[in-house]
Amino acid sequence: MIAPSILSADFARLADEAARVSDADWLHVDVMDNHFVPNLTLGLPVVQALRAATDIPLDCHLMIEDPDRWAVGYAEAGAYNVTVHAEAVRDPIRTAADIRAAGGKAGLSLKPGTSLDDWSDALAHFDTLLVMTVEPGFGGQSFMPETMAKVRQARRLVDTGHLTVVVQVDGGINADTIGQAAEAGADCFVAGSAVYSTEDPAAAIARLRQLAAD
Ligand code: DX5
Ligand code: ZN
Repeated sequence: MIAPSILSADFARLADEAARVSDADWLHVDVMDNHFVPNLTLGLPVVQALRAATDIPLDCHLMIEDPDRWAVGYAEAGAYNVTVHAEAVRDPIRTAADIRAAGGKAGLSLKPGTSLDDWSDALAHFDTLLVMTVEPGFGGQSFMPETMAKVRQARRLVDTGHLTVVVQVDGGINADTIGQAAEAGADCFVAGSAVYSTEDPAAAIARLRQLAAD
């Protein structure tokens, strides 16, 4: 699956920018609060407006403090998947249950320095696991190949545990790096600049999809 990140889109034309990637599997929406990460992007009202403007499932990546309080609102707003960060969440199992009760899928994200070992037991309560392949906060950063060990570990945990968890990667994914992430076992690839910095985002998505399948 390919999930273009609207962080790299034109924020003044979000509905048009969503329409340009209508063949995407999910539309990745980076919510940043200038506390969990040193950047500020958008929040619930924009997600509500986007939900009304596109049929693409919205994949909301909450890079915020206190996600236990806010996550359910994104599910209620119609997000398909709501991902919280392991480093910020206080009660992961309850928050995942709240998101699911509101009709969303629940995601757990790990920063590059966060080990999966402490979270393997919680995984069964989530639908997606987002392995960050850059430090969260900004688009256009370079892919960190050392994060692939965690993707391999995630793949093994999901397969051996017979879990239905989507393994997602986010950050620096482009035509040069997607093969490594696919080979390590990722199922869903977030790509911001690699999709939106091109003239033809639909072609970029098709190319990434092909490279991930090769
Ligand atoms: C970074 C965000 C990413 C970002 C990826 O904190 O979580 O989703 O948009 O952008 P690229 O693909 O340009 O690295
Ligand atoms: Zn993201």
